[in-house]
Amino acid sequence: MAATMMNEAGDSAPSYEGPTINLTLDVWRQAGPNEPGKMVRYEARDISTDMSFLEMLDVVNEDLILRGEDPIAFDSDCREGICGTCGFVINGIAHGPERATTVCQLHMRHFKDGETLVIEPWRARAFPVMRDLVVNRGAFDRIVAAGGFISAPTGGAQDANSILVGKEIADISMDAAACIGCGACVAACPNASAMLFTSAKVAHLSVLPQGQPERDERVLSMLTQHEAEGFGSCTNIGECAAVCPKEISMDTISFLNRDLIKASIRRRR
Ligand code: SF4
Ligand code: FES
Repeated sequence: MAATMMNEAGDSAPSYEGPTINLTLDVWRQAGPNEPGKMVRYEARDISTDMSFLEMLDVVNEDLILRGEDPIAFDSDCREGICGTCGFVINGIAHGPERATTVCQLHMRHFKDGETLVIEPWRARAFPVMRDLVVNRGAFDRIVAAGGFISAPTGGAQDANSILVGKEIADISMDAAACIGCGACVAACPNASAMLFTSAKVAHLSVLPQGQPERDERVLSMLTQHEAEGFGSCTNIGECAAVCPKEISMDTISFLNRDLIKASIRRRR
């Protein structure tokens, strides 16, 4: 059961009662982008099974700081599974063993007492490691900047709502818009392809009436940027969809491929 107490900084931090486990962590440590990295072993003692994975790392880090060592660097923001900031590989699985779950929402009750966990950053040429478990996902921003926008003036909420959107189209758009840009799809893909991410960012706009003016340009530009960033090609393996915390479907990639063919034909004409 979670209770709340004040930490030294005066913030309220959760404290837990109930079952605890001990874990061995093999963590990738790397001081900077151009520094060599290596696995370092840590013991995580008396970890409440109610903690999230990131809270467990917070406990490990507090201990490292007390011992005068550098804490393990990792990204997080919302810690509610909605911002896409967190993410690393646990025992070879991007975001860990629970389906449709980010590491910030992954709880320690899913691990066994005495288990050894191997924790590594996303591995992809387009996501250089900045420090420990932190990678630079700026490539995603540049793909979105290449075409993930609309120019149609939609006015205020009332005006935007005057353009009717059918339920089926709205569902496709909303499902694709669920992508939080975490990068797990890239980390899981043997080709380090970002096609699931790119297709989600293309589809959520290109199915809507407001997304039509730039539809062809969007898919062509975003895929050109995808390639320029050094992501691999999609060979329909499906590892991306298997680890996606928002369950973006492989159908989204099919949508992108159809859009690409149509846009290429129209461009040639
Ligand atoms: S498609 Fe899924 S795994 Fe890939 S960035 Fe979006 S939310 Fe993350
Ligand atoms: S910290 Fe926001 S999704 Fe994990």
